Amino acid sequence: MPRETVARINLDSLRHNFHIARERAGGARAMAVVKADGYGHGIERVARALAGETDHYAVACLEEAVALREAGLTQPVLLMQGVHQASDLSLCDAEDFIVVVHHEHQVEWLESGGARPRVWLKVNSGMNRLGFAPGEVAAVCQRLQRSGIRATGAMTHFACADDETSDRTAEQTALFDEATAPLGSIDRSVANSAAHFRPGQRMFDWTRPGIMLYGSSPMLGHHGPELGLKSVMTLESRLIAIRDLAPGEAVGYGETWRATRPTVMGMVCAGYGDGYPRHAVNGTPVGVRGTRASLIGRVSMDMLAVDLTGVEGATVGDPVELWGPNIPIDEVAACAGTISYELLTGVTGRVPRMALESRPTGRMTGSES
Ligand SMILES: Cc1ncc(COP(=O)(O)O)c(C=O)c1O
Repeated sequence: MPRETVARINLDSLRHNFHIARERAGGARAMAVVKADGYGHGIERVARALAGETDHYAVACLEEAVALREAGLTQPVLLMQGVHQASDLSLCDAEDFIVVVHHEHQVEWLESGGARPRVWLKVNSGMNRLGFAPGEVAAVCQRLQRSGIRATGAMTHFACADDETSDRTAEQTALFDEATAPLGSIDRSVANSAAHFRPGQRMFDWTRPGIMLYGSSPMLGHHGPELGLKSVMTLESRLIAIRDLAPGEAVGYGETWRATRPTVMGMVCAGYGDGYPRHAVNGTPVGVRGTRASLIGRVSMDMLAVDLTGVEGATVGDPVELWGPNIPIDEVAACAGTISYELLTGVTGRVPRMALESRPTGRMTGSES
């Protein structure tokens, strides 16, 4: 028996978004960022769908890279946090995982071990999460060379690329350029999704688009469709009850919403137990019968309520779009005081993912997992 709440994953839209990333990368190559279970869409599903498009994948940790190999994918994989123990280096070497080196202890592991995986250096250009200071980069490179290891790439990460008004991205780019220019012909990478939408941004050799592949806006104050991106995940549920509320009647825990006029209320069988944000406020849009209805009352674990008063002919059993092509996830995230990244990666295990893609016939077909 299929669940009423499902996440439909449109793989055509995923590929469309990757093409946008590639176009915006200019002369650089784009590696698909598929960490955190492909931003909640299923790492294997997403990586397979992009296998013909991307030359490399990027993940956070070794387990994710191994998952890609177990799925039969053979492209190089960039481990963006590198390894967390020396003994993992030989697996990286054997599997063609590119190891990011961001800290002194990782240099020592490489110096003392026999494994010779491909290595990229992480430069801390100001975000202050991971990486070597710009002034240390050349020395680290030389140290590795003395152990027979050539760093073939260097990367940095932007703190404020989503903010069109900030100058920090240009400053970080200049620092990175200065630190890595003396390293000769290595691969250089700076751009997350947001950088793809910054006019005049230098892209170097590789970009690392993540959230934009999934159709969500990387830029503050924009929705994905405004940037030409297509929603990949539709979180869909159903109406399981409809009732009339008289003025003064409340709905849900804490009675945080009360009818001020005769109201038709619908219950939807999805809640925070499925990953819908509990902090979504009254008025958060919910799609019913092509109309934007409003969330009312507190979201429960397995249910949420919508005001159906303006929705023509709503019936028990009607599908409801919680986010997707008609209800931008960026808008829902803003209503819940969060970001789309958190919503996408927070869809829980009880929600079946249903992949959709068009076959050469032009028809959409689906498969569930
Ligand atoms: C180092 C690094 N590069 C690239 C990305 C992709 O970022 P986005 O999803 O904003 O495109 C991330 C994501 O957090 C990251 O940590």
